[in-house]
Amino acid sequence: MLDGPTAGNGNARGNSNGRVPDPEASQTMLAVARPTARELAIRAEGVSYWFGEGDARSQVLFENSLEIGRGEVVIMTGPSGSGKTTLLTLIGALPRLQQGCMRVLGRDVSQLDERGAVELRKDIGFIFQSHNLFSSLSAIENVRMATALKDGTVREMNERSAGLLEQLGLGERLGYLPAQLSGGQRQRVAIARALVNSPALVLADEPTAALDAESGRIVLGLLRKLADGMERATVLIVTHDQRVIDHADRVVSMMGGRITNNSLTRMAVRITRALAQSEIVKGLSEATLTKIASVMTVEERKKGETIVREGEPGDRYYLIGSGVAEVSRGGAYQDELYFGEGFGRITSLSGRSLEQTVKAKTDMELYVLAEPDFNRILASDRSFESRVRSLLMAIIAPS
Ligand SMILES: Nc1ncnc2c1ncn2[C@@H]1O[C@H](COP(=O)(O)OP(=O)(O)O)[C@@H](O)[C@H]1O
Ligand SMILES: [Mg+2]
Repeated sequence: MLDGPTAGNGNARGNSNGRVPDPEASQTMLAVARPTARELAIRAEGVSYWFGEGDARSQVLFENSLEIGRGEVVIMTGPSGSGKTTLLTLIGALPRLQQGCMRVLGRDVSQLDERGAVELRKDIGFIFQSHNLFSSLSAIENVRMATALKDGTVREMNERSAGLLEQLGLGERLGYLPAQLSGGQRQRVAIARALVNSPALVLADEPTAALDAESGRIVLGLLRKLADGMERATVLIVTHDQRVIDHADRVVSMMGGRITNNSLTRMAVRITRALAQSEIVKGLSEATLTKIASVMTVEERKKGETIVREGEPGDRYYLIGSGVAEVSRGGAYQDELYFGEGFGRITSLSGRSLEQTVKAKTDMELYVLAEPDFNRILASDRSFESRVRSLLMAIIAPS
């Protein structure tokens, strides 16, 4: 099924300056717009795909766009046949990209020749359902095979391979052939093989489907550790396993060849937590905070940057997720703001321009409620409006 990758023909690269989401088009990307400063591991734009030729040609992916930051663990779900595996293999530079743009680990997949694709794949750990273990090689030999792609002494590679198999509960079976292992054990060998080189990107298709609860938990722990550790690996997992979903930063859903939902889970939780700290929204229910959080986007600012400027109009409210901001007025220092504190206003609501200048005193993570998103959340839910409008107005457009 998988064609070899071929040299692409220069698909136009998309506009990468997408900090402010298009308010109309962003229904499915709420709370996922990120600044370009964020290090992206995957950036797909307008990716479509067809199987077959001539009359039998049928489209299975439709204009999919997706950004995944380094160190994120993202789950992809969706019914069988919705295109998950196809999209995953395109990200892995396995079949040739037919339409759209795809950057993976800093490389433009459409521009890669065969050698470039092989190089890229060395940085990717693939865990696919058909695990293709070599039947004549033992468990440890199958894992060690993958280490041949990387530098390192034989001894180191042996130790790494054995260590990983031990962590996966196969310490007693290093010398077994695939035929002597159960389906779940074979799957764990394949997982060890995918992870033994500490790949920068892990693409996993239903990795825990054949595993018992305990093994599934161990595999997830390993993946989470890769993402959270020094390597800051990026992990994209196709799964329906609720236990897996609970460990994810984000869930992407596919339906009929399209990404239909792309919501931040952990990030939304972080925003909600920051919101809950905020004096003014105290007393709002968790559900309401979550709803507000769901339309907020994340921005990163570098130390020294001016975020809002006195005398100018403002179209967004900022909530501090991390770092310290310094507030001044008329050039005179006024205050420092920390986690959970907010600043900035939507000035069109009050007609008065901003009264303070706010600068990033350290690198900062900011959660942003922008005017169109604010309006949309109010328009989308009348009951929500009646409960929250005045409250939000008090925050973002104080009189
Ligand atoms: N090699 C192939 N040739 C033709 N059609 C295919 C091939 N592989 C997958 N498809 C079709 O593409 C669609 C998406 O498949 P797939 O990406 O495997 O979905 P999922 O992984 O979500 O189950 C399905 O309709 C499937 O039948
Ligand atoms: Mg599939």
